[in-house]
Amino acid sequence: LSKAYIVGAGPGDPGLLTVRALQVLQSAEVVLYDRLVSPSILALIPDTAEQIYAGKIEGEQAEVQGFISRMLVEHTLAGKRVVRLKGGDPLVFGRGAEEWRLLREAGVEVELVPGVSAALSVPGLAGIPPTFRGIADGFAVVTGHLRDGSEQVDWSKYASVDTLIILMGVRTRVEIARELIRHGRPPDQPVAFIERGATPAERVILATLRDVAEGGVEVENPAVFVAGEVVRLRPFLVDGLGLAQLLDRAECLEVDPT
Ligand SMILES: C[S@@+](CC[C@H](N)C(=O)[O-])C[C@H]1O[C@@H](n2cnc3c(N)ncnc32)[C@H](O)[C@@H]1O
Repeated sequence: LSKAYIVGAGPGDPGLLTVRALQVLQSAEVVLYDRLVSPSILALIPDTAEQIYAGKIEGEQAEVQGFISRMLVEHTLAGKRVVRLKGGDPLVFGRGAEEWRLLREAGVEVELVPGVSAALSVPGLAGIPPTFRGIADGFAVVTGHLRDGSEQVDWSKYASVDTLIILMGVRTRVEIARELIRHGRPPDQPVAFIERGATPAERVILATLRDVAEGGVEVENPAVFVAGEVVRLRPFLVDGLGLAQLLDRAECLEVDPT
């Protein structure tokens, strides 16, 4: 049975590739990659491998997906070691599962190599943990992308989650912030946008949900949008400000109230 590899490239820094991802990339003969795969990761692909940029294939999304899957199938059945390389984790808003299914339908075996998703690593590297004892018990990762404007995310389902991590939410940030406030999220809650996380060009923008709802926060793609009290931890973790107080607080929180 022929085999293809669906591989997560992580958020951008080659140091955040998995060992398996590096092994598979270094023995690849054909690599189909997406827009968000960083140049420093593409530099790890051997010169002998054919590199195909899937981001430039244009058309309706379904047609593009069909075309990419056919290319994967054709090259694999021709006996090539084919790698489908996607930013972050292939199964987090990456259509990796769609391609996996189409490959299986065509009789191709698939090895999935999970990747480090931007959803958790990009906020983490910026000193914003998704959970913190006493501050956030849980988180949700949600798309901010509104497909053709008709299908919308139902923000009432997410408005009360402690930490909200929104991908593809730059363009629609004003609408998202308004919806979250409308569904009861506090307008003065801190938010962060982390642009180009895990790359040397990273930029972190801090604001409140109200600032975003009022349209006053400029952000560029790609960025992860985080809303929640955990954003307040960043100065403690990144700048080491008041670390003593943070440790005090953590110790207090360790004490079982019962
Ligand atoms: C189509 S989704 C793919 C997510 C990917 N599969 C993952 O697990 O990270 C693309 C979105 O991920 C986020 N993203 C991916 N890489 C990023 C990075 N290095 N810095 C900031 N945001 C990033 C942005 O919100 C972007 O719009």
